[in-house]
Amino acid sequence: MSNSKLYPEAYPMSSGNPNAAYSSEGVGGYQPKKKRNKWLWIGLPILLIVIIIAAVLGGVLGSRASNNDDSSASSSNSNSGSNNANTGVPSGVSGVNTAGATSTGADGQVYLAVATDSYLLPVYATGTATAGYSAPTVGSSNGWPTDPSPPSNSSIRPNPRLAPAYKWTALTSDLIANNLYFKQWNATIVQNASDTLGDDPTPYTEDGGLSGSGVLDVAREIKLKVKNWAYAYKVTNETKYADRVWLELQTAAGNNSDVAFGADDGTRWNPAHFLDVAEFCAAFAIGYDWLYDFWTDEQRDAIMWSILNLGLRLGYNALSGDSSASAYNWWAGSATGNAQVNGNWNCVINGGLTQAAIAIMDRDQSGLAQKVLDLTVPDAYNNCFQAPDSAGSWAETSDYWYFGTTGAAEMVNALITAYGDDRGLAESNPGFNLTSLYHIYIQGMTSKFNAGDHGPNKYTATANSLLLWANIFDTPRYALYQRDHIDASEPWSMFWYDPATTGTWWDGLALDHHFDAAENQWATGRSTWSDNSGTYWAMRAAKLQGHQTHGDLDVGDFVLDAMGQRWAGELGSGQYLSDGYFSSEAQDSERWLYYRKRTEGQNTLLINSMNQNVDAAPTGNFGSSGTAQGPAPSLELQTDDTAYFWTDMTSAYNGTGGVKRGIRFLNGRKQILLQDDVTTSPTLQWRMHTNATVETNQATATLKLGGETLVASIVQGPSGASFSTATPTRLSTDPALPTGTEDADQPNDGVTVLTIDVADGGSFSLQVLFTPQWGDGFTALNNVSNVALDNWSLTSHN
Ligand SMILES: *[C@@H]1O[C@H](CO)[C@@H](O)[C@H](O)[C@H]1NC(C)=O
Ligand SMILES: *[C@@H]1O[C@H](CO)[C@@H](O)[C@H](O)[C@H]1NC(C)=O
Ligand SMILES: *[C@@H]1O[C@H](CO)[C@@H](O)[C@H](O)[C@H]1NC(C)=O
Ligand SMILES: *[C@@H]1O[C@H](CO)[C@@H](O)[C@H](O)[C@H]1NC(C)=O
Ligand SMILES: *[C@@H]1O[C@H](CO)[C@@H](O)[C@H](O)[C@H]1NC(C)=O
Ligand SMILES: *[C@@H]1O[C@H](CO)[C@@H](O)[C@H](O)[C@H]1NC(C)=O
Ligand SMILES: *[C@@H]1O[C@H](CO)[C@@H](O)[C@H](O)[C@H]1NC(C)=O
Ligand SMILES: *[C@@H]1O[C@H](CO)[C@@H](O)[C@H](O)[C@H]1NC(C)=O
Ligand SMILES: *[C@@H]1O[C@H](CO)[C@@H](O)[C@H](O)[C@H]1NC(C)=O
Ligand SMILES: *[C@@H]1O[C@H](CO)[C@@H](O)[C@H](O)[C@H]1NC(C)=O
Repeated sequence: MSNSKLYPEAYPMSSGNPNAAYSSEGVGGYQPKKKRNKWLWIGLPILLIVIIIAAVLGGVLGSRASNNDDSSASSSNSNSGSNNANTGVPSGVSGVNTAGATSTGADGQVYLAVATDSYLLPVYATGTATAGYSAPTVGSSNGWPTDPSPPSNSSIRPNPRLAPAYKWTALTSDLIANNLYFKQWNATIVQNASDTLGDDPTPYTEDGGLSGSGVLDVAREIKLKVKNWAYAYKVTNETKYADRVWLELQTAAGNNSDVAFGADDGTRWNPAHFLDVAEFCAAFAIGYDWLYDFWTDEQRDAIMWSILNLGLRLGYNALSGDSSASAYNWWAGSATGNAQVNGNWNCVINGGLTQAAIAIMDRDQSGLAQKVLDLTVPDAYNNCFQAPDSAGSWAETSDYWYFGTTGAAEMVNALITAYGDDRGLAESNPGFNLTSLYHIYIQGMTSKFNAGDHGPNKYTATANSLLLWANIFDTPRYALYQRDHIDASEPWSMFWYDPATTGTWWDGLALDHHFDAAENQWATGRSTWSDNSGTYWAMRAAKLQGHQTHGDLDVGDFVLDAMGQRWAGELGSGQYLSDGYFSSEAQDSERWLYYRKRTEGQNTLLINSMNQNVDAAPTGNFGSSGTAQGPAPSLELQTDDTAYFWTDMTSAYNGTGGVKRGIRFLNGRKQILLQDDVTTSPTLQWRMHTNATVETNQATATLKLGGETLVASIVQGPSGASFSTATPTRLSTDPALPTGTEDADQPNDGVTVLTIDVADGGSFSLQVLFTPQWGDGFTALNNVSNVALDNWSLTSHN
């Protein structure tokens, strides 16, 4: 086969070398660029990850309803606790579940959430009554019917096999009508499908060039729409939805004469940025599989042709280590020997390729689909599924978690529904089960503890993997948690949620947790799971490398929520296209020149105006009363109920002297103490970024945000220690930024840095007490015991 003959003669590829269509010889098309962009060649392949960039530029966290990134919500959260007596819904909230906490479905289920707040988080009823609230469990009734013909390795399920026929039947004949959650999700999805039916076919719009963010947003939007339209057809039988899928797929195959769609040399789906290929594969797999019964044989062949030639061929080359793919297969750990390919790329790509291979497995006479599947499973086993550390934390940040876990869940789903088991993927790392717990704990009362980079638009990445993992890890709590979230209105939920699940997700769940693996160490405490006006703190003491170049220099960084406001918050991603942003995690990386990534851009100590040492190995010391919430939404706490975390972070400051930082609850979790114990410090600055307006008066700072007030007071410190404010911008002593056009710090509008300066303070303990002004009936504790961090215990401050 000559290079010019990219496409097989005709489908099916029955003659000649079955590998010809995807061997390096026949690969044609993709030629690695001779001259690469600077960010493509600097350092490790891991850097390419980053180039996702995408929509980050244009308002990262857009307002898509399927986007669960709570950072997109406005900060004007009016949920401050006053209730409308009739509905139990706090005033100022609105949302999807207005049926109320007592609304029951035909099967006796209740909505737990009564509304959605301005952060897109569920709002729960209040009260101490336990009727309707119970421990998470999977009941014996109202669930899925038994699979009438379970598949096996030797007998793959017939199409549709990514979402099996018996589930479609059960949904439309019975489950949607009788299950409150299914009913609501179904209505939302079909409405969306209907609303978007008249859209033009998604255009091929490049973002930052093909080797920048490529056409990832295009692929993800097509996947989202195909999924919604295919779903709508299946539950309504209205052919307009299936026809619209066909138009979209034909366009993305490059066969719509009215719409140009990428290069005609086999690289249409953009292997230069391989996530794009994978998401197109997933879109075509879902379109092919869910609508299998609707398509004619010619249409099935046509869709399969694109899957094989624009997708699986390139995936095979990459995963088999073929030299033709060496410019873009850094994410294929098994083929390249690259270590630490444990981020979302490996999950998204293996997930997309796997779904595509499985969808067409028995129709593909060339054997390519089987060969791809034989490579994706071990590659994902060794890489994607090792992404969470042993405690469950996702190495890349809490936002990249969405992409990684969605890819992993789609892959596991495809294997199980087609063959009956996931080939050991989910069990391969005990931390994978715990990554759902990580997601639950990293959600604060407003935003997540969203340290590091936030990543691109989510489109089809949701937290709905929790619905699937609930079944796989026998933990119904995960499903109960997710089903009340707004991003649950999505087609996969209709198959992954077990409708026999009942109970209250927080019942028995500890308020505090220490994610204690050193790579990504952090800890968190909260006053309640069921009321977003409560208190929440989280603090990082993670290593500064090993985050796929998405981290910050942030040992000791913390966030603080109370009264529905984020008082100490994160600045988020910098400009992904700026010079050296993803160059490396080394001390001299250009990444660490940008304010949002520097130590001064974090809520931690800045010593000698210098960045933390990237080799830092902070310790962690955690204590908790062990309080777990009961079934009722309201939780009464004793005044000595507490949780604390402190870290020896001396190594982040090059080991001179000692630098320890801790945070704890006081006064029954209504107040928070932040303490720094420092020996022999030269010049030190305490920094905290806030959206609040700040008024300082010596040792007191009054913060106002969203109509609420929080007072910060220095209760211990070197003599004369007092608050000041600063702008969230580079220090005059910082080394210069690179000079390209994209190379500027982002403005941090509305943010003030609250500071405390200590000039050569010797040894001291600096203690800041945060007192939210709770109003009626609240008595603040002002006399705080002075206890060295080394001596902190559960009772040290009683
Ligand atoms: C419907 O889908 C579009 C993308 O096609 C998305 O922008 C929008 O947020 C979705 N709306 C809902 C309610 O899911
Ligand atoms: C699913 O939602 C659509 C749109 O609201 C509706 O037409 C259909 O009847 C629903 N399906 C069931 C089984 O209720
Ligand atoms: C759609 O049509 C098929 C074939 O006639 C039928 O079996 C199925 O029940 C219909 N589904 C719905 C949701 O009406
Ligand atoms: C697109 O065009 C190619 C090349 O002519 C053809 O083989 C394939 O079947 C078409 N696919 C779709 C989805 O129209
Ligand atoms: C199916 O095959 C895979 C891979 O060959 C293997 O890992 C798995 O254990 C098999 N499952 C069963 C039930 O035999
Ligand atoms: C998964 O983790 C949960 C804690 O979130 C635990 O209760 C459960 O037993 C674990 N499941 C498995 C299969 O290990
Ligand atoms: C300020 O508010 C925005 C929007 O809610 C949020 O994304 C950001 O993290 C906040 N910044 C700080 C420093 O709290
Ligand atoms: C620690 O040392 C590194 C050089 O090894 C330097 O880049 C960094 O700024 C220093 N940080 C502090 C806080 O001294
Ligand atoms: C503050 O608490 C200490 C004990 O921790 C006690 O000795 C002291 O009298 C208290 N001071 C006031 C003013 O209450
Ligand atoms: C911790 O408590 C012990 C016993 O009360 C005391 O001897 C020691 O000095 C304390 N350590 C610090 C660092 O204050």
